[in-house]
Amino acid sequence: MRKGDFFSEFLKQGKNVGSITPSSKYLVKKMMDPIDFSDVKCIVEFGSGTGIITLELLNKMPADAILLAFEINMEFCEMLQKIEDPRIRIIADTAENLENYLTQNNIKKVDYIVSSLPFTMIPNGIVKNILRVVTKVLKPEGAFIQYQYSLNAYKKLRDTFKNVDLTFTPMNIPPAFIFTCTNSLQLQKA
Ligand SMILES: C[S@@+](CC[C@H](N)C(=O)[O-])C[C@H]1O[C@@H](n2cnc3c(N)ncnc32)[C@H](O)[C@@H]1O
Repeated sequence: MRKGDFFSEFLKQGKNVGSITPSSKYLVKKMMDPIDFSDVKCIVEFGSGTGIITLELLNKMPADAILLAFEINMEFCEMLQKIEDPRIRIIADTAENLENYLTQNNIKKVDYIVSSLPFTMIPNGIVKNILRVVTKVLKPEGAFIQYQYSLNAYKKLRDTFKNVDLTFTPMNIPPAFIFTCTNSLQLQKA
């Protein structure tokens, strides 16, 4: 999908899409940085969009790992369906329903959840439900990696996780904050 197509989806469903253009390669790299791909079994992606982060995850994941990619925009889901990779499951449903799909795929716990969800545009109750599910299904040493265009979600994330590591990239439209959230003590920064 071209950038123009992303923009037209933004015009149709701006609140849900949350951005006028896909993430830059700089932002995608920052989202990958916290991930140790060596022993990954399952990664979940929230808000896959046109697949810019999805493709990089698949590029780095081991051959026997699984990627569950959640996307509620049907135009984007059609794009994602074109990815030919046996490791990906495209899920045309809200991230809130993650647990149902873990059960269906016989997956108990998740290594990483990589999220582009536009938290500032999603009702508070739904964000709370999503974060509740995230903390329930993440492995103890796992991480929730989320980007946002503002610091609005920072407090909510700090209230949910023991550690929230914050980085920033100006090399994106708009510039983005990246939150890496964990509950494991060994990942805690000195
Ligand atoms: C800012 S775009 C990011 C797209 C892509 N990951 C990227 O980085 O370019 C956010 C995406 O989240 C999707 N989305 C919004 N709410 C969602 C929800 N509750 N569950 C799953 N996807 C959702 C939107 O349709 C949109 O494609």
